[in-house]
Amino acid sequence: MTHPSRHAPNFAPRGHPPSGAAAPGPGAVPAPTGPSPTLADVYAARERLAGAGGVVHTPCIPCEALSEKLGAAVHLKLESLQLAGAFKVRGALNYAWQLNAAERAGGLVTASSGSHGMAVALAARRLGTTATVFMPEFSSPHKRRRVEAYGGRVVVAGADYYQAFARARELAAERGAALIPAFDHPHIVAGQGTAGLELVEDLPSPDLVVVPVGGGGLAAGVALVVKSLCPGARVWGVQPAGAPSLARSLEAGRPVELDRLDTLADGIRVRRPGDLTFALCRRYLDGVALVSDPDIFSAVAFLLRQARVVAEPAGAAAVAALLSGAVNAPPGSRVVAVVSGGNLSPEALERALTCEGGGP
Ligand SMILES: Cc1ncc(COP(=O)(O)O)c(C=O)c1O
Repeated sequence: MTHPSRHAPNFAPRGHPPSGAAAPGPGAVPAPTGPSPTLADVYAARERLAGAGGVVHTPCIPCEALSEKLGAAVHLKLESLQLAGAFKVRGALNYAWQLNAAERAGGLVTASSGSHGMAVALAARRLGTTATVFMPEFSSPHKRRRVEAYGGRVVVAGADYYQAFARARELAAERGAALIPAFDHPHIVAGQGTAGLELVEDLPSPDLVVVPVGGGGLAAGVALVVKSLCPGARVWGVQPAGAPSLARSLEAGRPVELDRLDTLADGIRVRRPGDLTFALCRRYLDGVALVSDPDIFSAVAFLLRQARVVAEPAGAAAVAALLSGAVNAPPGSRVVAVVSGGNLSPEALERALTCEGGGP
């Protein structure tokens, strides 16, 4: 790695922590609250999604500009082209389809900064029920309107995801509605893992897979699949330097909560990883790299200008890590960067195109 100070490498139990990092002692990791998803659960999720009206098998395209720059064969897994503009619909539909008729009838309730809210609203529409989405105060008006466009009722509440989720939980208990978490549940992780299945089918034997991390559902699902099917591949998560919740948790050997969040990448602005997602990321990820907001916005601009790909800031984090060198792509290696979402607001677009370091 070119910036050893900017990442938390290989805290999985099979590895040794680097000097200066907290060693995860035996028993230091809390057991996940529920059962852990398996590869079989991911295959079952894929079947279920097909039966639930389907999701897009998103393309994994070669990125000439990034390949030339890095001297590696870099591909982009375009979850930005997924229904509702992000991978989130995979987990949301996988969860919603496992609700029984009574649970469905009470409506769906969730908390989200945007993409998961759109996905739950879309799932509710397919189920013929309602969706209420608690969105934190920092969520963008653009994403609130998108949730409403999918038929969701938006309630703005709380300073972050966890505060919004507490409100969602109250409403679900009051109304007997089904509470759909954004990341910390086996059904959500298994659903997100279906992106990993497509990835390894379209690009067998990748050397390196890079995934944006917020609460860790996408990284957990993708890493579970990639490490199970391609054990030689390295899988790295990426977080904003201003919201390094998983990186700090891996250092501490347990999920820790950050005191402050300082990033404009709203989709990955999460104070604490989930218990289940932490345990899975600890087991399967090779490390978590940190990228600055200027690097993230620069990557949004790079994708637009050089690859004709629309990515929101969270969605461009993996590309930011490769462009900045926070994750090292060895020359000649086969690399996949997951472009996790394309719900780019006009404000974020303007910032990407005008801010210092706004791209080549
Ligand atoms: C575009 C995008 N990328 C990544 C993430 C992070 O996903 P997870 O919470 O599963 O880590 C999100 C979460 O909302 C997102 O919207």
